[in-house]
Formats: sequence, structure tokens, C-alpha cells
Amino acid sequence: MSAGLRIVGAQKRFGAVQALADVSLEAAPGEFVVLLGPSGSGKTTLLRSIAGLEPLDAGQIWLGETLLEDAAKKLRLPSEARGLGMVFQEYALWPHLSALENVGLPLRERRVSDWKARAVQTLESVGLHDHAARFPYELSGGQQQRVALARALAGRPQVLLFDEPLSNLDAQLREELRLEIARLTREYGITSVYITHDQSEAFFLADQLGVMSAGCLLQFAAPETIYEAPSTAFVARFTGAMGPIPARRLEGQVSLEALGSDLEVYLRPEDLTISEQPVPDALEATVEHAAYIGGRYQCWLAAGGGRVLAWHSQRLQPQQHVWIAVQRGAMHVFDSSNGRHARLE
Ligand SMILES: Nc1ncnc2c1ncn2[C@@H]1O[C@H](COP(=O)(O)OP(=O)(O)OP(=O)(O)O)[C@@H](O)[C@H]1O
Ligand SMILES: [Mg+2]
Repeated sequence: MSAGLRIVGAQKRFGAVQALADVSLEAAPGEFVVLLGPSGSGKTTLLRSIAGLEPLDAGQIWLGETLLEDAAKKLRLPSEARGLGMVFQEYALWPHLSALENVGLPLRERRVSDWKARAVQTLESVGLHDHAARFPYELSGGQQQRVALARALAGRPQVLLFDEPLSNLDAQLREELRLEIARLTREYGITSVYITHDQSEAFFLADQLGVMSAGCLLQFAAPETIYEAPSTAFVARFTGAMGPIPARRLEGQVSLEALGSDLEVYLRPEDLTISEQPVPDALEATVEHAAYIGGRYQCWLAAGGGRVLAWHSQRLQPQQHVWIAVQRGAMHVFDSSNGRHARLE
């Protein structure tokens, strides 16, 4: 059984940039943690800190009961002593070594005597035993990334770190490989930290999901919680909710029609119903665009001073007037002054 990973109060600054503000998170043994965030939010910095490639200014990193790093005590275990594996966006294979030798090299460096048998077995588990003798230039991008994955797995790491490993691959390969990654990390029982800016990839893989922005971990929870109860407007937006629609408090309720905007509302398509006829309490909207997405139409609508997405069974025409009913309790409401979850009482 692998160990869990715990990060406590991680801080890192590069000159004027606070790359990590005060990040704490915990991954239970065997758990798959995904960190989602836009470019520059500190994802790679956090991963490199865990790997021991970037010293923290403050904070601690624990692997199970072992302290890997404690900035205050100036304690830092070197990268190679941390028992971690890494898979990067660029596959970082040695061009002059075969697939088998690439997978086996870290084992040989650690003087593992049965390195060859173990490398063969790991190549088998990623479906590449027939390609063991090939050089990286004789492999497709997807196959090269499988070799990189096998190399990381062969070391039997306690924790695997992934830095956008699929972003160089085409859409079909990405879906194929993310399934492989989910299967293999579960099979090997490895604790994983995976960073991406792809929302669908994040939800596909995550047992626990974190959303990062400007060096802060805004929310860290089960994917269901992040989706259904985003803690800030940023989290709502970054996980696909549409808005903002300016709104205000009116007698303890959210009013989308009232003038003024002390609140902002985000909505998800599955919570909306479009009517082509007026409906009481529905929000009037204008169709901007409708696209057939198989079985139904995805509609972009201008409504209440914002833009939302909804689905409909028929094709709607641009400029058409429609009415959208919002399912009770489905509005994600934030204070427009600070983007935080709004209390309505
Ligand atoms: N070695 C460095 N020197 C100076 N600034 C750095 C260094 N590494 C990262 N930064 C800055 O720290 C911030 C966080 O960078 P980081 O690479 O962690 O972002 P990221 O979330 O991985 O982004 P991306 O999705 O583009 O890979 C950025 O503003 C970046 O410019
Ligand atoms: Mg990065």
C-alpha cells in the first residue's frame, strides 16, 4: 500500500510573483488528486515543490509519516530520495535508448538487479511489449507518453506526479490514455497528483479536485462538491458554469430582473429549461447561437445582462426570443464585490 501525501502551508515567491500563496492539501493513500487551474496559477510550481525540484519559502510536505520538506527547519530531502515518479507534458525520453532501456534506466541507476524483467512487465502493462526495441522517434506521441508512464511506474513510486501529460496529444488519444492512467494508478495503488487546465480531464480522473488561481487553492473537495457548491465565482466559471448575470437581493431572494448588481449569478445548462412561449417567473432571453451536438441543440443565450448555455430539443434561430426557467436552488450566487459565496438572509 502506498503512502498519502500532505502539504501544509506551502508558499513560494519568484521576485514579485507569489506563485504559491498558502497551499494546504491532503491526498489519502491511493487517492487520485487533480489540480485544475489556468495558466500561471502555480500548478507546476506546486508539483515541482512536491518533487523536490523547487524549494519552498514556507511550509511542509509529508509523505505518510515521513517529512520530505520543512522550510522552517531548512529540511529538504533530495528529489531522488523522495520515492516519487513524474510524468511530464514533454515525454522526456532518451532519444538514443530503446523503449525498454528508457523504462529500465532509472532501475539500473538504482542497481535493481532484475531491472529488465521489471521493465518488460511494466511495458506490458501499458500495452507496449511489442514495441520494446523501438527508439522514441519510431513511436507515436501517444506511445512515447505510454513509455514515459511505464518508466514512472517501473520505479514502484509511492506517489506519481503528472504535469499535463496529455496536452500534446489529439482528443481521441487523450481520452484513451486518461482511462489507462486511471486504471494503472488504481491497479498499482499509487497516490497521484495530476495537474491540468482541462475541465473534463479533471472531472474524469479526480477522487479529490482542487481549483487554483493566482497561487491560491480556492477549493479542494470531491468533484461533486466542486460542481454543485463552488465556493467562489472563479471556481464556478472554471468548472463550466455560465455567467455572470448581474442580480440583487430582494426580500431575501435573488432577483435576476431587478436593477442593480450587488450579486452575480452563475448557471449550469442542465438546470435550465427553454420555452419558446412566455412562462411565468422565467427569464427572458435572446438566442445568440444554436449548435447541434447530437440528439439535442446547445444554445448560447443573452439573458439578464449575461450569457448562459442551455439545451433544447429543437433548433432555435439567432435573435429569437425565448424564456428560461431556472430549477429551484440551482443558482450559484456570489457577492459581486469579492466573488465569494453570497448569503441571502
Ligand atoms: N523559475 C521561475 N522564475 C520566475 N517566475 C516563475 C518561475 N517559475 C514560475 N514562475 C512564475 O510563477 C507563476 C506560477 O507558474 P507555474 O509554472 O507554477 O504556473 P502553471 O499553473 O503551471 O501554468 P501553466 O498552466 O501555464 O503551466 C507564474 O506567474 C510564473 O511566471
Ligand atoms: Mg505548468
